[in-house]
Amino acid sequence: MPSLNDLVRAHTDLDDVEVAWLHLLIADWQIIADLSFADLVLWLPDRDGVGYWAGAQMRPTTGPTAYVDDLVGAFVATGKRPLLDSAYQHQRVAREGDPEWRDDIPVRVEAIPVRRGDRILAVIARNTNLLGVRTPSRLELSYLQAATDLTQMISNGFFPIPGQRSDHADSPRVGDGFVRIDADGRVNYASPNALSVYRRLGLSGDLTGLFLAEITRELVPVKRRPDEETLSAVLGGKLPMDTEVGNDDAVLILRAIPLRPTGEHLGALILLRDVTDLRSRDRELVTKDATIREIHHRVKNNLQTVAALLRLQARRIHVPEGRLALEEAVRRVGSIAIVHETLSQTFDEFVDFDQVADRLRLMVAEVSSQGAQVTSSRDGTFGTLPAETATPLAMVLTEVLQNSLEHGFGDNPGTIVVTARSLVGRLHVTIEDDGVGLPEGFDLDNSTSLGLSIVRTLVESELDGTLEMGVNPGGGTRVSVDLPVH
Ligand SMILES: Nc1ncnc2c1ncn2[C@@H]1O[C@H](COP(=O)(O)OP(=O)(O)OP(=O)(O)O)[C@@H](O)[C@H]1O
Ligand SMILES: [Mg+2]
Repeated sequence: MPSLNDLVRAHTDLDDVEVAWLHLLIADWQIIADLSFADLVLWLPDRDGVGYWAGAQMRPTTGPTAYVDDLVGAFVATGKRPLLDSAYQHQRVAREGDPEWRDDIPVRVEAIPVRRGDRILAVIARNTNLLGVRTPSRLELSYLQAATDLTQMISNGFFPIPGQRSDHADSPRVGDGFVRIDADGRVNYASPNALSVYRRLGLSGDLTGLFLAEITRELVPVKRRPDEETLSAVLGGKLPMDTEVGNDDAVLILRAIPLRPTGEHLGALILLRDVTDLRSRDRELVTKDATIREIHHRVKNNLQTVAALLRLQARRIHVPEGRLALEEAVRRVGSIAIVHETLSQTFDEFVDFDQVADRLRLMVAEVSSQGAQVTSSRDGTFGTLPAETATPLAMVLTEVLQNSLEHGFGDNPGTIVVTARSLVGRLHVTIEDDGVGLPEGFDLDNSTSLGLSIVRTLVESELDGTLEMGVNPGGGTRVSVDLPVH
């Protein structure tokens, strides 16, 4: 299906500002479709005057549709739909006396010119499926009246209201709650849903006849509502804006659409929605998220305490091997702490592992600097990894990096390159150094030293991957780890 922009560009001479106006209009025309129980189609006049192109379409959520098929992209020639021509030429809303019959459905058609300044940019065809409109009750009549005011605003260039569009996904719809207030801010009509919302907020009687701003001020504590000025402007229907108010029982968002069909302020349409459940779910999520982060933070702190204790103890040991062993333990604990620290900063249980890998490279180099100039770098990206993969992988990386520094170079300078490649469902990591290479007769499967035993166990049983160690084609040692990731 072509987009509105495609159609405008292909067939009309509307400029960017005018197209923006149409976008603003269709961002909000669900309200008009719902209030009028009608399908809306935006017809764009062809630049050569030969007809109109259907640029956008909206179905009502309050009643049955008049169009089962999608119309966007369709063309009607001038003369074929006299109402469109009339609305476009005379710059006035055009309606028909008798309903049109389409596939046994009576449809009332109306054409509304979309004005911006002096120009008519398009024509909205409003097609009301009359089978859907029951014997009109106060609700239907109030809806239709508001719809008429809004369509008049469109034809007079007062709607859409620039700058008012809120991009809230939870912006209220007509069916959520509808209140009509007069020019003084007094409620003329409140839909049953709107009344229920206010009852939840603590209202005992009816809303009709009350000043909406006043009653809201009574029900909502000061700290749960906007400042005085905003409150009276929005709930008084003077400002096209939305706002959120609430108390311990309910939270609602209100959106005001001032009505001035001919320029004079007649009152406003207030749409409101109960978002109590939404807000409490938000709160729970935020709390859960914060708790997880806090736990990671504490684990990290505890690990750092353990590392500090080990370091203290290492200083007191005078046997060099014992001391080295403890220093290594400090490093191992430290690499796990880095993963938890990263987890304590993210919003979910996934870690940006590039950051972890880079910090590990630096940490290892720092802890085991033996004077030699060894530089390390990373090539490629690890992406985000789940916490249960990140922790063992961090330890593997630490051990392997440590080995390169410790055994690869002696006192000579050298380089270490960590390469990460993510393929579909797998992660391939290599650590290459250009050092002296593995000792003669080295056999990974038979090595019993602690470092490589840790690496092998983690790769094979924790990560469910494979480990290889061998000669780096450029000289030195290459370690490759291949593991599945989801
Ligand atoms: N990049 C490398 N370059 C040269 N030799 C290496 C390299 N990596 C490992 N080795 C050899 O493999 C041996 C086993 O390594 P491993 O990490 O298991 O033990 P380690 O480093 O000696 O002690 P630790 O248990 O403290 O790690 C090393 O002693 C070393 O001889
Ligand atoms: Mg080692």
